[in-house]
Order: sequence, then structure tokens, then C-alpha cells
Amino acid sequence: MVNNIPVEKAKTSKIHNVDFDNLAFGTTYTDHMLVSDFNDGEWSAPKIIPYQPVTLEPSSKIFHYGQSIFEGLKAYKDEQGSVWLFRPMENFKRLNKSAKRLAIPELPESHFIDGLTALLRLEQDWVPQNPGSSLYVRPFMFASGTGFHASPADKYKFIIALAPSGAYFSGKVKVLIEEKYSRAANGGVGYAKAGGNYAGQFYPTQLAAEKGYQQVIWTDDNNHEFIEEAGAMNVFVRINDTLITAPTNDRILDGITRKSILDIAKDEGIDTEVRKVSVKEVVDAAKNGSLKEMFGAGTAAVVSPIAAFGYKDVDYELPELGDSYASKLKKRITDIQYNRAEDKFGWRYKV
Ligand code: PLP
Ligand code: COI
Repeated sequence: MVNNIPVEKAKTSKIHNVDFDNLAFGTTYTDHMLVSDFNDGEWSAPKIIPYQPVTLEPSSKIFHYGQSIFEGLKAYKDEQGSVWLFRPMENFKRLNKSAKRLAIPELPESHFIDGLTALLRLEQDWVPQNPGSSLYVRPFMFASGTGFHASPADKYKFIIALAPSGAYFSGKVKVLIEEKYSRAANGGVGYAKAGGNYAGQFYPTQLAAEKGYQQVIWTDDNNHEFIEEAGAMNVFVRINDTLITAPTNDRILDGITRKSILDIAKDEGIDTEVRKVSVKEVVDAAKNGSLKEMFGAGTAAVVSPIAAFGYKDVDYELPELGDSYASKLKKRITDIQYNRAEDKFGWRYKV
């Protein structure tokens, strides 16, 4: 038992096979996972078991109707070896927002918070201490119940799996501003962390990757006039000295990093604006030199400076600033996450 959660221990540990100095993102998994099943109208008490395959019937509704949602957060180790989470209640609340939209039963708070804490206490040796590395936490829920009738399942699974991870992007990040495809529509599921939102962007992102771009910047589905967010992160632009990001709406994920960066930027005395940003404004600013920076913000991406963006077959390079907002804000947020600085906002959560 850890924190009153039963543990079935793995017979052997894989930890000695892991090269913690060369971690990719999300490709190695720890020895254990947390599981709870929704059956007969309630979520079972969570338990920790060895990391293992999940067995499902071919008629499970996840395969047919895509009832699947997930979250992403990270566990950080400080110099003393203590483990910290960053605003985990925000992930819990967003998981249930996504669940509601996908007609998946909501999860009790203690399953998420106590379950995650217990799992991390058991797996604390897996939290890397190397600079820039962390233990990526992936809570997810999907329809395990069966039937070809197109209606919500009667059974679901909630799992938390863990992956010691390095940086999400390698090299300079180039993005393509999308003119044709859409990620989300008004009244749709764009604000939810639904698996299908990501499946739908893979093909346009592959087309962009063939032209050398790592991410697509999604624009509004109406007439692709305004910048919304990127495939795996929210987007900020700096025009002159003002830091601007799009307001969240039905189509945009309400990123926890995004709102934290806004708070930190204000605290730094940076002029911030949350408003619609048109593609024309960004292109014009790139042309006249007032576009100083663009960067993505997200759990996996942290704060990722964008080196260039493409639009209508033209590439626009961003200047390389010595004292960029991106580097200042990245330092402030990661210093809080890794317990290297005062946490004046009360965001850190000790495991
Ligand atoms: N937008 C999308 C589509 C994402 O997948 C993510 C990652 O979670 C984000 C934004 C950033 O959200 P957060 O900062 O909560 O990780
Ligand atoms: C995260 O940043 O946690 C995400 O979920 C993005 C994902 C596409 C890796």
C-alpha cells in the first residue's frame, strides 16, 4: 500500500536499462501504472499494478467512436531529491471538463490527486534530475465498454502512465500558419483534450513536416484569419514590447502553461494582451520588423522559441534576441517547477 492505494509490485525493475542522460520524449515507461475502472455506475478504488498491456474486446467503443481523453503534466526533482508537480488540480479540472464533453463519467478528485501522488512516491527514482528532464505524467480515460451502437459506453478505464522524458522538440522550431485545414470548430471539442483532436491534425502536420515545419499553427475555422494555437502548445507573439496571445474559446485548449506565463509576464512588468491576433498583423509585423518573438507554451513544449514561420509559401525568420521574453519567462517558470525559486503564486505541489 502507498497512501492507502494497493500496490502489486513489478517483479523486476527496468530502470537500469534507461539512459537518463539521453532521454527522448515519452518513449520509455516506468515499472508501474495506476488503474481504475468505471463499472456499474462508479469508478473502482484505484490500484497500482506493473506497467502492462491493456486487453480490450474488438467491440470496445474506444475503437469505433473515439471516446478517449488525456492529460499531460510533469513531475520535477529538485537538488535535494524532492519531487514536485506543477498545478495538478488544473489538470484534474480539465480532465473532467474533457470527460463531460465526450460523455465520459467524471473522475473523483481523490482518484486523480491521491492516485498520482501514490504512484509518484513509488516511482520517485524514475524522476530525472538531469537539466531539462522530468517525468512526464500521462493520465488518460477511454471507453472500454462494448457495442456497435453509436452511444456512450457503459464501461471506462482510467490509467496514469509515466515516462521519464527530455525535450519535446529537437533543434529549431519552424511552424506553418495553416490556410486550409482546421483543428476545431465552434461548438466542437477543440477545448477538450480529446484524442481525436490530435488524430485530426496528424495529416496536415505531416504535409507541413514534408516542407520542413515541426508544427502547424491553427487558424480559426471560419476563414483562417486569426491565429489560434499550435498542435501541442499555445502560441504567444511579441510585437514591439507587447506580449500577445489569443483568448481561449471553444476551439483552443486552455493551457496551464499559457495562463501561468501570462501571470509571470505581468509580474515581470511585461505589457500583455489577450486578444485576437490576425495572420495579417503577424505577417505585417514580420515585414516591418516589429515582430520580435514568437514562442509556444505547453507542458511538453515548456517555452519553445519559434525560429521562423511559413505562410503562403513565404518563410519569415524571427530575430535571435539576447534578452528575449521567451528565455526570461522560461527561466521563471522552470525555476518554480524545479523548486529553484520562490513560488509566489502557490503553484508547486509537493509529492
Ligand atoms: N494546446 C494543445 C493542443 C496541447 O496539446 C497542449 C498541451 O497540453 C497545450 C496547448 C498546452 O497546454 P498545457 O500548458 O496545459 O500543457
Ligand atoms: C502536453 O504538453 O502535455 C501535451 O499533452 C501535448 C502532447 C501533444 C504531447
